[in-house]
Amino acid sequence: MSADKWKTAITEIKKGEIRVRGYDIVEMMEKLSFSDAIFLTLKGELPKREESEMMRAILVSSIDHGVTPPSVLSTRNVLSGGNSLNAAVAGGVLTIGDVHGGAIERCAKILQDWGKRPDTVSIIAKELVSEFIYKRRRVPGFGHRLHETDPRTVKLFQIATNLNFRGRHMELAQAIEAELSKSLGKKLPINVDGAIAAVISDMGFDWRMGKGFFIISRVAGLVAHAHEEMIREKPMRKLGDWNFEYDGPKKREVPDGRK
Ligand SMILES: CC(C)(COP(=O)(O)OP(=O)(O)OC[C@H]1O[C@@H](n2cnc3c(N)ncnc32)[C@H](O)[C@@H]1OP(=O)(O)O)[C@@H](O)C(=O)NCCC(=O)NCCS
Repeated sequence: MSADKWKTAITEIKKGEIRVRGYDIVEMMEKLSFSDAIFLTLKGELPKREESEMMRAILVSSIDHGVTPPSVLSTRNVLSGGNSLNAAVAGGVLTIGDVHGGAIERCAKILQDWGKRPDTVSIIAKELVSEFIYKRRRVPGFGHRLHETDPRTVKLFQIATNLNFRGRHMELAQAIEAELSKSLGKKLPINVDGAIAAVISDMGFDWRMGKGFFIISRVAGLVAHAHEEMIREKPMRKLGDWNFEYDGPKKREVPDGRK
């Protein structure tokens, strides 16, 4: 094979044949669940039973969270402006950033980097939280606008523990939660992003794939929101919070002689 060839190890295609990571797509269609096929595509190998159950729970956990998240507001706004479903969903995906869904990636990086230190998780958590507070930075994966305890975190950790996935990253996340509450004097729960970050880290996923889990899951919700907007609402309806006030410059004239 010549050195200048573009190489890929994901899918091999020939006339009448499609093999994902070596497996025939036709066989996969019969034998794999959607989440197993996603695991295979991302990780390169078929999931073991425990990995399969964990992956399914992760992907279900982020499928939708009502109309308030930025991605849903964006999807509905783009659709409401007279655009197609694909443009609306793409608009929603573009909002997935450091504090919405993207916290998985940043949190997983922190857990994987700090988790390598030789100290106990409580010592690591203490140093980490004091560093973040000193630099006035928020620890990704902690805190929630609505939930005091994120029910998705409780369930993901319960499933992970039952499947023997509870490892150093989950322990570190829980130690950070305890330390944040001690240092700030209020509970900042591990949110679903933080929980996914901990679990995928204990499953051996690279933190750089973090956002992918949220995108894959939430796109299903975004398609449903785009479709509901399309069939239920009139175009360019009033979406989002309209309780705003202008506080810019007062009315003024453009000075003459500028041309
Ligand atoms: C999710 C989030 C935006 C919720 O925000 P909120 O409930 O509106 O909380 P507030 O923005 O009112 O924060 C209140 C205070 O709690 C503290 N705080 C909130 N989240 C914090 C975090 N993750 N780490 C450290 N301190 C945090 C801050 O002191 C903040 O005060 P500030 O406004 O002076 O910075 C926020 O917790 C956050 O940014 N978390 C990190 C990103 C993240 O995990 N996003 C995924 C959400 S599912």
